[in-house]
Amino acid sequence: MITKEVKIAHLSDLHISGPQDIRQLEHLDRMLEHFNADGFDHVVISGDLSHNADQREWELVRDKLKAHGLYHWEKTTVVAGNHDLINLEEEMRFYNALNPLPRVRKKAFERKLASFCEFFQELITGEERTDAAFPFVKIINYQSLRIAITALNTVYPWYPAENPLGARGWITPGQLRALKLPEVSDSLADCFVIGLCHHAFKVYGTDSLIDQAFDWTMELKNRDEFFEVMKAIDAKLVLHGHFHRFQSYEVNGLSFFNGGSFKYSPMQYSELIIGQGGEFRQRFTAVV
Ligand SMILES: [Fe+2]
Ligand SMILES: [Fe+2]
Repeated sequence: MITKEVKIAHLSDLHISGPQDIRQLEHLDRMLEHFNADGFDHVVISGDLSHNADQREWELVRDKLKAHGLYHWEKTTVVAGNHDLINLEEEMRFYNALNPLPRVRKKAFERKLASFCEFFQELITGEERTDAAFPFVKIINYQSLRIAITALNTVYPWYPAENPLGARGWITPGQLRALKLPEVSDSLADCFVIGLCHHAFKVYGTDSLIDQAFDWTMELKNRDEFFEVMKAIDAKLVLHGHFHRFQSYEVNGLSFFNGGSFKYSPMQYSELIIGQGGEFRQRFTAVV
């Protein structure tokens, strides 16, 4: 079959909360079946696959992807969300009991991130890595064009004062530096570049004070540096999730798509179609 366009399905925020989450798992089955039936080339899941940062929940997602033949490097890409790495209740209990040093907490967080990367290695770098894999660049050659998915980890460890809900985002300087290396730009030169992370560039708020407080706890702290890097690598668009709404917006010529929330709208997803010349169109649609 000759495909001139590349079709990408984008889901976010599955929040699978254990094997008892039967309805949600059934919805996931239906969605993945639809992606196959509709001839999607690639599936992107932009974080919060699980709800309680539990490896058994990651397994449920992996099993579903495997059951639908989508658990392959060239078929699916995932990044971690805060709910994949931080179990708020556990963090608070641990903190209150031991009041550990921030350094110890940071180490524990890094270990969790590394275990996520190791667990989903096939969908991330595709290579065996013992350390955390972010940022990673996945270049897929399609008949009509080369697509580069450039993924960053935006999950920031839980800290009682600075990140009280564990929902604030931050990108480490090392990740930003890595993407600015000339060899990265060289390898991306003839690709259609897609940025991928969990946190929203823009958190839509209202004028209500409660919403404003909520926004602060959800924000991507160094979003300006992130934007600068996306521009430097000539990204055409960015896919993200976290803020449970289906949204599209543009910031200085860069398009952002929020894959919404599979948790709350399990029939809906974002469809992205990229043409041979790099032209693209996106829409939010639903399984019929
Ligand atoms: Fe979420
Ligand atoms: Fe999130």
